[in-house]
Parts: sequence; structure tokens; C-alpha cells
Amino acid sequence: MSDKIESRLQETRRFSPSKKFSDSAKIKNVDDYKALYKQSIEDPEAFWREQTRDLVFRAPFTKFSEWTLPHAKFFVGAKLNLTESCLDRHLTTDVRNRAAIIWEGEPGETRTLTYFELHREVVRLSAALTDHGVKAGDRIAIYMGMVPEAVVAMLACARLGATHSVVFGGFSSEALRDRINDCQAKVLITQDGAWRRGNVVPLKKLADAAVAHTPSIERVVVFSRMGNDACPVTMTEGRDIWWSDLLSHPASEASLKNARSPEAFDAEHPLFILYTSGSTGKPKGVLHSTAGYLAGAHVTAKYIFDLKPTDLYWCTADIGWVTGHSYIVYGPLSNGASCLLYEGAPNAPDPGRFWKIIERHGVTVLYTAPTAIRAFIRWGNEWPAKYDLSSLRLLGSVGEPINPEAWMWYRNIIGQERCPIVDTWWQTETGAVMLTTMPGAHATKPGSTGLPFFGVDIDVVKDRGESCGANEGGKLIIRKPWPSMARTLYGDDARFHEAYWSQMPGVYFTGDGARRDEDGYFWVVGRIDDVLNVAGHRIGTAEIESALVSHPAVAEAAAVGKPDELKGQALVVFVTLKGGIKGDDAMKKSLGEHIDKEIGKFARPDQVRFADALPKTRSGKIMRRLLRDVAAGVAETRGDTSTLEDLSVLATLRGDEE
Ligand code: WT7
Repeated sequence: MSDKIESRLQETRRFSPSKKFSDSAKIKNVDDYKALYKQSIEDPEAFWREQTRDLVFRAPFTKFSEWTLPHAKFFVGAKLNLTESCLDRHLTTDVRNRAAIIWEGEPGETRTLTYFELHREVVRLSAALTDHGVKAGDRIAIYMGMVPEAVVAMLACARLGATHSVVFGGFSSEALRDRINDCQAKVLITQDGAWRRGNVVPLKKLADAAVAHTPSIERVVVFSRMGNDACPVTMTEGRDIWWSDLLSHPASEASLKNARSPEAFDAEHPLFILYTSGSTGKPKGVLHSTAGYLAGAHVTAKYIFDLKPTDLYWCTADIGWVTGHSYIVYGPLSNGASCLLYEGAPNAPDPGRFWKIIERHGVTVLYTAPTAIRAFIRWGNEWPAKYDLSSLRLLGSVGEPINPEAWMWYRNIIGQERCPIVDTWWQTETGAVMLTTMPGAHATKPGSTGLPFFGVDIDVVKDRGESCGANEGGKLIIRKPWPSMARTLYGDDARFHEAYWSQMPGVYFTGDGARRDEDGYFWVVGRIDDVLNVAGHRIGTAEIESALVSHPAVAEAAAVGKPDELKGQALVVFVTLKGGIKGDDAMKKSLGEHIDKEIGKFARPDQVRFADALPKTRSGKIMRRLLRDVAAGVAETRGDTSTLEDLSVLATLRGDEE
């Protein structure tokens, strides 16, 4: 990389918001931020009571928080139906007829759903699901593309108290099957197909293959996105039902006439499960609960994106990841924001698509990922230059460390030096943003994720937990529970404790390395555990390895990351084949296809390298550090190790170092 993450150590540029931006911002200056931050730490109850005033609680909390680590509760005793905060409350204000979702399909058609219309769809679907036997506490899997109905499905689950588990549409049948089986989902909501770069992703067909091995699924609800000509599907009698048939059910019709308010649930009622990668082969079912999660998503979206009635806010993440949950659905809708939702790829039909969308709809706030920004840089400045980007007023970045070069390009070419950039650090487990700048208050530094959000007691520490000095690298930890934190890992509470709360007593370990500079700004380096961040996708090395060893030809495999200009990290796998099997191009292809099938195409290795043996410690642990060096071509052993595939030689040369 011409401009490595390390170059951030020398970064001295800083940029302040314009007076015009600050004057109209929710947080206008550093003192206002400091005062609110101080209150959020010293008197969290007062802070959160005040900041959640516009959310709908049907019974107030009796105690703000309560914890015995690793378990914590927030808004104890409160009762709410979260969808009232996202929908019903807007129906009596001038948000009622404002666009909740402006959707653009990949082929270019558009649809708008006002808050009134979105509410209606959610009420109908939740009534219809209830009529089909779905009850509060049941799990519902959602395997959809980026269509408004995916948002409707999530909110309909929340309305009736069912726990949704959205599975990213890029996951394979096998990955979907495993997630459904883990959470024992009763219903799967999917669609016939989705557009992706001009191709049809046959979601229903993939779902059928999964559901053949998921005994818990009783019903499959199918939204017709493509129609029978573009994407024919097979409906299984007695199990599958079209979305439109479900909605035309009398119960669903009746629900509209019956203005009864929805059931209120306990603050800690489980809202959703989202599977994410960890350091073992099995994905973790991160479980979020209701009131604390909503509060976190609501307050962060409000201040960080500085949402105004005139904004059209666009988060380009997929609904299948946590960014889509918190910053397409729950955060913006609970603020009454108008959100753009785009179905397809950034380069369909050409690399100007995002900029064309911004011009066409007048997007004002754009929230995207560094890997996308780096792709845009590569595609050339002529694409954004073709379009009018003057509607933009604020830019956001999320998902991985952003290199200063990409940050500057984002600022100059997309923001045209006018828009503040918020670089937001957070995780599936944190539920909401933890580190950011306040766009109207803080100076930004290219590559830094800024300062703690309100209520976040976060630090960089050494191995034994003592704080690092300014600019000293260490582990990023959070000292105190926060409202939107994950409550457990579904069905595996022991792993919840082990993965996050066991490294250092009493604190949450993020898995990231970071430093804090002399101004208190955080610079996140990236994962320091066995998790990779490939093009913004979180991939566990153990998950890749266990998928690889399930291939009949593979004896042993190790997956490591390698710095990559476009993807941040690229996935390199070292594979030892079973005796007598040849490691050739055909085998590489077969292994790639195997990963597509086991996990999904987005997890396909960038490089497959065959080795007679993998370097190991005497106790049999694979020496990953060594493999990372080999992958990056920096191993300073004798000879050219970047092409040396006899890793057993390396192992003996370098001894037991890990
Ligand atoms: C990991 C969490 C939370 C949104 C999407 C990813 C990395 C996330 C940043 C950022 C540097 C970042 C971290 C984190 N990460 N945002 N602004 N700067 N790194 O969610 O899949 O749960 O991954 O993404 O390494 O631990 P996720």
C-alpha cells in the first residue's frame, strides 16, 4: 500500500467543520460535547433518561442499569414495543407523510414508502405472521436482498416480539442452514431472487437447499421481487407462501382496522440475533435486546449523522450486517429520517452508479465503507465528476481502518472539501457506534476514529489492563457495560464470557488494537485476534480453515490475512493436501468453489498456496505469524520465503516462536 496504516503515525493534518455546518449542528462545539460526555459518564441515568425522551416507553424504567458481568440489563422494568418508536410515534407528527424509505432497484426503478405506508405494511405482516402461529420469543430467519420488504420483515418481527436473525444474502445455503439450525427458526422470510451486478441471485432456490435440512422451519414466506420470468421458483405446498397471499389474509386486513396498540415487551426482550465470525470455526450468534439497543441506535444516529428533516440519509451497508440493522433500520427510523435504500452493486451498470443515485435523489448524508472508497479511487475520478454531488453535507466511514489517502480522496472528491467526515468505530457486539467525532464540533484527523461517543468508557491498555500512555499501542477495551451491548451469544453463554470478558478482569475486550494520541483521539489498527476484515467483511480464520478441511482433498489448512490495497486485508490460505493429491490450478478452483458453497462467495480466498507441511510449534500450534509474513512476502528468513512453499523447512529454521 502506498499509504500504509502505519503512515497514520505521521498524520498531522486536521480539518474543522465550517461555521455554517457547526451553527446548525446538534452538537455545535467541543464544550457542548464535553459537557454531555461528562454527564453521560457521571450520571448515565440522567443522560439516558433525557436522550430517550422521544422514544415510546409504555412503562418507564424503575432502575437504569444493573449488572453482574458479563451480564447487564438496562432500562430495568421498562416496557415497550420498539416499533412504536420507529413508526407509530411519527404518525401524529409531520413525519407521517415523509418518506421513510426511498428505494432504488439495481435496474433503476424506484419506490417510496412514507412512514404511514411503512407502518401499514409492518402492521399487516406482523398480524399475518401472528395468524400463522408466530409468537413472541420465536425466531424468524430473514434471507433477503436490499428491498424495502426486508425492513418491513425486521420491523414486523420486532412488533410481535419475534427475534429476527437476518442472514446476509451473500451467504451460501450451507451457511443459512447452519444459522437457522443454531437459532431454531420457525419461519424463514425470503424472496425469489435479487439483482446483483446484472445477475439474479436465486435466493429462494438457495433457501430451498437450506430448508431441506432445517427441521425447525414450518413456513417459508416468499416475497416476489423478480417475478416468474426472471426468476422462476418452486413453492412447496403446505410450507411455502407468497408474501402477497400472506398479506391478503383476513387477519392482516383486519389488523389495519383494529387500531389496538401492539403488545409491550420487557426492556430485555430479545430483539435480534446476528451471526458473526469469531476465533473458532462456529459463528457466534450475537444477541441484542430491546430497550438498550434501541436507545443506542437512536442516540448515535441522531448526533453522529446530525439528522434533520431535510436530510436524505444513505447508508450503503447491507441489511444483513449490523450496520444495516442499526443505521438503515432502527437508528434512522426511530429518528424519523428519510433513508435511501439501494438494491445493487456500486458498479452496476458502471462505476458512476453511487454518484448518479446521489444526484438523482439529492442524498445529503452518505455512510459507506473504506473498501468501497478504495474501489472508487481505482475506478477513477471521472465517475464522480460526471454528477452533481452538491447535495451532500456529511460523510461517514465504517467497517475497517481508513487509510489517510482514501480519507483525503473521500473529503476532496466526494465531499468537495465541504463535508465533515465521521469515521465511526464499532462492532456487531457493541450494537451502536462507540468511537466517532461529532461532525459539527470536532476537528477530524485523516485515519483517526475520533473520540468516545456519549456513555462510552473506552481505553487502550497493556496486557495486564493498565492504561497506555499517549501514542502507545495496546488493546482496545471498554471499561463499563453500555446500553446497546450484546447480551449474550445465543445458546452459548460460556463463549460470551470467554470471548469478550475473560482476557482482562471486569472489562470488555474488543479484539482490536489501537492507540490514543495526545489529543485523546483513537487510532484503531485492526483486529489482533484470529479474525480478518476482508473488504469490510468479518471472516474468522478458523471458519475458513474448518470449511477447507471439509474438502475431501485437504489434510490441513491455515488462513491468514495479507495487507491489500483494495480490500484492506486479503485472504491467503495455506493448504496441505492428502497424500498423492496434486496441488494444481484445478485444485485451487475446486477449493474456491468449496468455500463459496460452505460460506459464500465473499469469503473466497484471494490466494491458495500449497505446502507439504505447515510450520508448527512443538505443541502443534500453527505458526500464524510466520505464515502472515510469508503471505505478505516479508519473512526475513534465508532465501526468498515468499515463494518457499516447503513450510516445514521454515518451521525448523525459525524454531518455536509462537
Ligand atoms: C470490526 C467489527 C460495526 C460495523 C461494521 C463491522 C473493524 C469497524 C471500524 C473503524 C477501524 C473498524 C474493527 C471491529 N472496524 N469500524 N471505523 N475503524 N476499524 O462490524 O463485522 O462486527 O466488525 O470492524 O476491527 O472490531 P463487525
